[in-house]
Amino acid sequence: MSPHHQDLLHITHVSKRSGLSTATLRFYEVQGLIRPAGRSGGKRTYHRHVLRRLAFIAAAQRVGLSLAEIGDVLAPMPTDHAPTPADWRRISDPWKQRVDDAMVRLQKLRTSLDDCIGCGCLSMKTCSILNPDDEAAAEGTGPRWLR
Ligand code: FES
Repeated sequence: MSPHHQDLLHITHVSKRSGLSTATLRFYEVQGLIRPAGRSGGKRTYHRHVLRRLAFIAAAQRVGLSLAEIGDVLAPMPTDHAPTPADWRRISDPWKQRVDDAMVRLQKLRTSLDDCIGCGCLSMKTCSILNPDDEAAAEGTGPRWLR
């Protein structure tokens, strides 16, 4: 028995504790976000600190980062220990700007929605939701509104 046996959790246990399905955990593994410690009884085992890593991933997603972006952030961090509070502070600080930007975007969207409720045109040229800041007009034709 390994000296760290107590620190190992089966994938089903990690799933229960994190609220993520085992399929999601395997997907995260494929994405390189987490790494199993080994196998026991045919099932993946993880170090207990994977839970903190999963909490980190969930928090980053709430801030609006894609899994690919989270992978980039986590890549230089060793998988053999949990991200520390200092890691989390250092990494999350620049995300304040993202949340600020998202708030500005949502505020604009909220204002545009008022226009739409009073209108209903859904015109790709003039609807303020489909064509914020009249971007399509500035760029010529093309499905700019799809982005
Ligand atoms: S529906 Fe007319 S402005 Fe959006």
